Amino acid sequence: MNEHDSSRIESLLRSHDLVRTDDPAKAGLIVLNTCSIRNKAEHKVYSTLGRLRGLKKRNAGLVIAVGGCVAQQEGRNLIDRFPMVDLVFGPHALSRLAKLIETVADGGGSVVDTALSENPRSLPHPAGPNGQPAQATAYLAVMQGCNNFCAYCVVPYVRGREHSRPVDEILAEARDLAGSGVKEITLLGQNVNAYGKTLPTAPSFASLVRQIHAVDGLERIRFVTSHPRDFSDELIDTFGQLPKLCEHLHLPVQAGSDAVLMRMNRGYTRMEYLEKVGRLRSVLPAISITSDIIVGFPGETENDFEETLSLVSEVSFDSTFSFMFSPRPGTPAARFDGQVPEPIRRERLARLQSLQRRITLDKNRALVGKRKEVLVTGASKRDGGELSGRTGCNRGVNFKGRHDLVGRTAHLLIDGANKNSLRGTLINA
Ligand code: 5AD
Ligand code: SF4
Repeated sequence: MNEHDSSRIESLLRSHDLVRTDDPAKAGLIVLNTCSIRNKAEHKVYSTLGRLRGLKKRNAGLVIAVGGCVAQQEGRNLIDRFPMVDLVFGPHALSRLAKLIETVADGGGSVVDTALSENPRSLPHPAGPNGQPAQATAYLAVMQGCNNFCAYCVVPYVRGREHSRPVDEILAEARDLAGSGVKEITLLGQNVNAYGKTLPTAPSFASLVRQIHAVDGLERIRFVTSHPRDFSDELIDTFGQLPKLCEHLHLPVQAGSDAVLMRMNRGYTRMEYLEKVGRLRSVLPAISITSDIIVGFPGETENDFEETLSLVSEVSFDSTFSFMFSPRPGTPAARFDGQVPEPIRRERLARLQSLQRRITLDKNRALVGKRKEVLVTGASKRDGGELSGRTGCNRGVNFKGRHDLVGRTAHLLIDGANKNSLRGTLINA
């Protein structure tokens, strides 16, 4: 979501005739888009701001703006701590950004806009940057905010309440994206399964996915993030019905112990989670399932943690993002009894990640010898002259091929695997 917000900010600034530079010393305006999901992300903002102090001293005309969730969380405190910051704007202020920058640049002094509205105005989607060909992949936000209040999570406080965009608006954006050459769309929301609840006709998320599936020119659809509690049978069935829906689902489980899930306020049990995974696999056996996991949540015992390990083995996730619990300001879990000491959190994280690395490597190796269709996303980062693509099951594949394949689908024979990616050879193009 943050990446998407950053590209929306960039396209908004371009439409006001600003030109991007990669050299901060040349910039007249620097915008930091920030994340406060864990302490580490928040910290990065402060160290980056520390580095920008010198630039501001050399160039008094430089405007420094801080947006996103740290901006929302800290508000004016940010300016008190870093007086060279000119503008602080929260996630709902994006549509007002141009005006806010103008006020600051006209000498209006520092400005803070962290209002959270009931009905945040949508921004137009980012146009293909000034005449350059559009990317093959794009994000499309279908909703924002979250009403779940998981005990550890800052999102409902910094991004506000759930708000769904109307179906027509989303479909128009999907058609525009397809028209500009986008082949794969990822639908975005903090809890996409709750899509539609705030709209007058309460359309289901599954019905939205079916309508997007009918858009000409699109070849692939993905969505993030799903909440296991709200993951309906109707949506599970779409995986068996819609060929453009990629065979991958990110379904954060967070923990394997019912006691921990309950204290997290997740609203499902281990068994319910496993049942959903079972149903998905019966509809689409090849589906790749990935997850998010928090270790060291307050009160997590060694037994609770071992239940997480056993769940990871039982589901056999294709990959997981795992994190040590990080207490966030204003969230209930930050004040819970039984905070787990950092050395234990660290040790549990290492054990979990080593288990997951083995599972991921096994699963990647099992793909060697198989044919896979990839969407070619660009030049490979590693090796000169190589291309990289992404399978429907969301794995990166590196292979040799001509640059004009970028943006198209290619058929590969998978002939190598490591823990992070696959290697392939073109079969035809
Ligand atoms: N501490 C650690 N991890 C967190 N996440 C969200 N809040 C916290 C926190 N306070 C993780 C969850 C979520 C992912 C985006 O970040 O696993 O799914
Ligand atoms: Fe945070 Fe996701 Fe829970 Fe919402 S559903 S509170 S975004 S973890």
